[in-house]
Amino acid sequence: MKIRFLNGPNLNLLGSREPGIYGAATLADIEAAVRREASELKVEVDFRQSNIEGEIVTWIQDSKGVFDVIVLNAAAYTHTSVAIRDAIAAVKIPTIEIHLSNTSAREEFRHHSLVAPVCIGVISGFGVNSYILGLRAAVTVKAS
Ligand code: DQA
Repeated sequence: MKIRFLNGPNLNLLGSREPGIYGAATLADIEAAVRREASELKVEVDFRQSNIEGEIVTWIQDSKGVFDVIVLNAAAYTHTSVAIRDAIAAVKIPTIEIHLSNTSAREEFRHHSLVAPVCIGVISGFGVNSYILGLRAAVTVKAS
């Protein structure tokens, strides 16, 4: 089974970015934790980040026929990107939306996700564990 993790804008700054909200772990720390868990679960993981919306759209498109599940932290694009939502709907790869923070407990503009309606479900508010829970959820999803 192959699972692709996609990370959106500013997640490259984790570790120094608003640590009170996002924690002290860097994205490299999170990737290492995900890879450790993936090897326990005997699944293959691809892990990437971009600040560019179109690059994330292209990665979603390129996932077709290659990855069984996408685990997506679209970061701020969660709340704005019709293009990312449309890409998920187009490729029909089961996708799990994740967030480090509990977006429902934050500013109102973070309460709405354009991506959630085309995802299987959402994991939000568990810090680094949102990624681990996302991985565990992904392995339970049968490729369609
Ligand atoms: C985030 C939540 C988003 O609202 C925010 O724009 C991010 C990170 C999270 O992981 O908590 O950049 O996706």
